[in-house]
Amino acid sequence: MATVSLESLKKSYGKTEVIHGVDIEISDGEFIVIVGPSGCGKSTLLRMVAGLEGVSEGEIRIDGQRVNEKEPMDRDIAMVFQNYALYPHMSVEQNMAYGLKIAKMPKAEINARVAEAAELLQLEPYLKRRPRQLSGGQRQRVAMGRAIVRRPSVFLFDEPLSNLDAKLRVQMRLEIKNLQRELGVTALYVTHDQVEAMTLADRMIVMNEGVADQIGAPLEVYANPQTEFVAGFIGSPPTNFIEAEILGAPAGTKIGIRPEHVAIAPVGQGRTTGLVLYAEPLGAETLIHLTIAGGNAVTVRQDGAVAIPSEGEQVGLSWREDDEMRFDASGRRL
Ligand SMILES: Nc1ncnc2c1ncn2[C@@H]1O[C@H](COP(=O)(O)OP(=O)(O)OP(=O)(O)O)[C@@H](O)[C@H]1O
Ligand SMILES: [Mg+2]
Repeated sequence: MATVSLESLKKSYGKTEVIHGVDIEISDGEFIVIVGPSGCGKSTLLRMVAGLEGVSEGEIRIDGQRVNEKEPMDRDIAMVFQNYALYPHMSVEQNMAYGLKIAKMPKAEINARVAEAAELLQLEPYLKRRPRQLSGGQRQRVAMGRAIVRRPSVFLFDEPLSNLDAKLRVQMRLEIKNLQRELGVTALYVTHDQVEAMTLADRMIVMNEGVADQIGAPLEVYANPQTEFVAGFIGSPPTNFIEAEILGAPAGTKIGIRPEHVAIAPVGQGRTTGLVLYAEPLGAETLIHLTIAGGNAVTVRQDGAVAIPSEGEQVGLSWREDDEMRFDASGRRL
């Protein structure tokens, strides 16, 4: 178990800076999710903590100790990747034992650790099988077993579930969370999937082009996004953005309003008028897509039991002023 701190962490490739200074103090046993779109720097940040990428500026400390110059093997971390790359010619048992064998650990200790990990991951029936004789979820579990046997202080995950189908992803997500709690280990987990981030994280780092736009607990970030980018990225369907002039507010501002906070109202009532393009009835809820003056697209998310307006119909759109989020031209929350 360990604390991890990142201080003004920067990374450049040649003259191009891709991480522009990230700061966070991670508590012992905390589950941190790094979330953001493709290319925003998630893997780079994680790989710096792992020691697989050099640090250009700033400091990484694990349990208070600077690790910038330490080799990956000496950082007391273990990493699980999207491409878990098991050795195809080795059994499950041998795959899990391999790293320890290389580290010249006594055989009895290796066997004990592999047995313990296999039990924890419910891999006992498969120990003699080769990777190709396993399902995707079982293979992912072997990859985690390989990390667990090292008994690291910090677990690093880079999109470990993106090769799995949707159902298995949900199941494995739960398993990872339970495992992390059970082992009490500090975890940094990279994903571009905001649902995965919301459900796994104690706190998340929302990355936007190499900048940590916001760091906070999932529901806190959802309820109180500090930038237009975070408001648009966290929450599904995404926040609606409307030019303020349309609503009679000062120009140069943008208003964000979440689909679940907008309701269909009779024409003439509500804040503005919209034209219904189409509706998506999903059972429990319905998504209604509209355009309003100036061509702004708006999505309304309403309860599945509420009447759905017809395509081409003009309707009013209402919301509580308290639910409005205002952003300046640079995307900062006002
Ligand atoms: N070895 C490298 N040399 C030059 N640029 C790189 C290198 N590795 C990454 N980059 C650049 O750094 C930026 C961040 O890349 P990174 O792999 O961290 O993104 P990511 O958030 O993990 O994206 P994804 O979700 O697609 O995996 C990208 O613009 C990428 O092109
Ligand atoms: Mg990546």
